[in-house]
Amino acid sequence: MEALNLQRQEAPLRRLMGPGPLDVHPRVYKALSSPVIGYLDPVYLKVLDRISELLPPLFGTQNRLANAMPGTGSSGMEACVANLIEPGDRILVCVAGFFGDRIRQMAERQGAEITVIEEDWGKPIDPARVEAELKQGSYKLIALVHAETSTGVLQPIDDIAQLAKQYDTMIVLDTVSSLGGIEIKVDEWGIDGCFSCSQKCIGCAAGLSPITFSDRAVEMIKKRKTPVSSWYLDISLIEKYWGNERVYHHTSSSTLNYGLLEALLLIHEEGLNKRFARHLKNHKALVAGVEALGLKMLVDQAYRLPTLNTVMIPQGVDDIKLRRYLLEKFRLDIGGGFGRLKGKVWRVGLMGYSSSADNLLFFIPAISRALALQGYRTDLAAGLDAVLAELDGNGNEFTALQEKAAAAGA
Ligand SMILES: Cc1ncc(COP(=O)(O)O)c(C=O)c1O
Repeated sequence: MEALNLQRQEAPLRRLMGPGPLDVHPRVYKALSSPVIGYLDPVYLKVLDRISELLPPLFGTQNRLANAMPGTGSSGMEACVANLIEPGDRILVCVAGFFGDRIRQMAERQGAEITVIEEDWGKPIDPARVEAELKQGSYKLIALVHAETSTGVLQPIDDIAQLAKQYDTMIVLDTVSSLGGIEIKVDEWGIDGCFSCSQKCIGCAAGLSPITFSDRAVEMIKKRKTPVSSWYLDISLIEKYWGNERVYHHTSSSTLNYGLLEALLLIHEEGLNKRFARHLKNHKALVAGVEALGLKMLVDQAYRLPTLNTVMIPQGVDDIKLRRYLLEKFRLDIGGGFGRLKGKVWRVGLMGYSSSADNLLFFIPAISRALALQGYRTDLAAGLDAVLAELDGNGNEFTALQEKAAAAGA
């Protein structure tokens, strides 16, 4: 038998500027190395309670039910779909990218009768098409993605939310790439099931999925004709652990929840409005820099997602070679396109701790150099100048540097 390789492996340091995970604040790293404690330890139960107090303002809700599901963003997605759909229910799914289609696939597995509104990747869903469908027949639920990470589109929600109210239809909203970076208004929009992830704008490691259900959704789940098809994701069972009863449901990860709590504290210390403004400013600065380099964005300005930027790959540039170069020479990790946009775009994430002026000022020269090595010339001076003009013109805070100064007691 071959000897086992017992060499220890250390993760390399990276600068994470892709679709997620993103960089994590030093305080969150520290919290992630907290001692492991039991899932019923009274001290740990207080951590879960605090998470349930700090999440609702991010979701823009007064919902009683808000906490973090075990598992990644897909776990929250499946929890919403599995709890709110029964076999034969009529569901309208809006698909304008990879993740809209994932919701469709999950709804299909619940035995729903599905109508899909499909849009080109890079465009938002047109509310008029939603209205046309709602006029034709009654639907129990509309499911859609707020921030489509595969395309870099921010879906305007107001009109669709209004239509859902008018036609008395529930809404499930995917906020995996927006919660904690962009304002979410679960109560105002009338969202019934909303989910996200821990590893993007929230700024923690992957493994938890913040989720909330409206009171009307909770009532509806109680009155289901059939049990929720997934035991693990049945919210009425998990709720007994999150709530006063404290009934064992699963071995909740104290490691991840301590990390999440620290990330949520950082968000509230920064202040939600300041945080949203920081994400927007850094996005605008990135776009200014990229365009001044001579590159193009995929999405029209009106629908660009501030947290995830899709930059078109110029003709003749080898995507894989370029991203490997950035990773190996600059430790810089940006995302490639996938699905229909594979090889066509780069996905540059500016979320949470990674949404910083430092990252912008690193990214622009690095990509310019990587392109130059493939014979594609950009105007680096113009690119940097555009970023700087946008940053100082907008009074941007140099977040990471300020935090380093604070940590050093300056
Ligand atoms: C919009 C969107 N929805 C759902 C998911 C799935 O989340 P996860 O990979 O954490 O399971 C992602 C992942 O990037 C996403 O971007």
